Amino acid sequence: MSAAAASPRADDRGAFLRARLGSFLAVVPLGVWTVNHLWNNLSAFQGAEAWQRDVTEYGHPVGFFASSIVALLPLALHTVWGVGRLFSVKPNNLRYRYYGNLKYLLQRLSAVGLLLFLGAHLWLAFLRPRLTTGGPEPFSDITHEMHHHLPTLVVYVLGVLGVAYHLANGLHSFLMGWGVVTSRRALRKLEGLSLATFVVLLTMGLSAVYALWDAGK
Ligand code: HEM
Repeated sequence: MSAAAASPRADDRGAFLRARLGSFLAVVPLGVWTVNHLWNNLSAFQGAEAWQRDVTEYGHPVGFFASSIVALLPLALHTVWGVGRLFSVKPNNLRYRYYGNLKYLLQRLSAVGLLLFLGAHLWLAFLRPRLTTGGPEPFSDITHEMHHHLPTLVVYVLGVLGVAYHLANGLHSFLMGWGVVTSRRALRKLEGLSLATFVVLLTMGLSAVYALWDAGK
């Protein structure tokens, strides 16, 4: 008999720690990295040189390696954790039409959307150019695709919408889950804060998409 089977409390502790780790990694560093990535992409308003400097170039190969690990490892761990949580989904939105219930469903729908979007985004914008040309995707390529290939534009708009909702609503449940916000009054304020976060992230993301689309004329 394994030690875990001998002690259900050890199982509970393991599940609790995994849940805490999955939740923590979603905000630090994944959430922080995501906000920074959206911010850097706004450099598209200043043209090719500024965008490439801020988004795709690294002063040192170690910088590229470290940044990839900081972004991709937590993403992989959070995704494994998130896919596990998806299997526990039991939507009952038709029976209980509460706002909280709708947010619960949207968090999981946006997770599935993000899984597809990030798979395509990582392959097309990060891995494929490096494997085929040995370098990052040039500004001229992404702006051309954004302007002249409608599916690319639609996927980026939906991807940005999914990221903005998933992160803003995720921050809300993170702060509740960790017991940072508990009182009724604070929860009401948190609702407003999460809505404001959604609007800010969506504005940043859509502005960056617009700048890339506009540069591809
Ligand atoms: C840019 C990428 C992502 C970011 C920044 C992000 C961020 C977050 C945050 C902050 C939370 C709330 C954590 C908590 O309640 O403590 C969350 C929850 C969740 N994430 Fe993500 N996430 C990302 C990608 C993904 C992907 C690709 C999946 C794939 C399945 C996913 C699945 C989930 C699920 C299912 C939840 C809800 C967990 C629950 O409350 O039970 N996330 N995410």
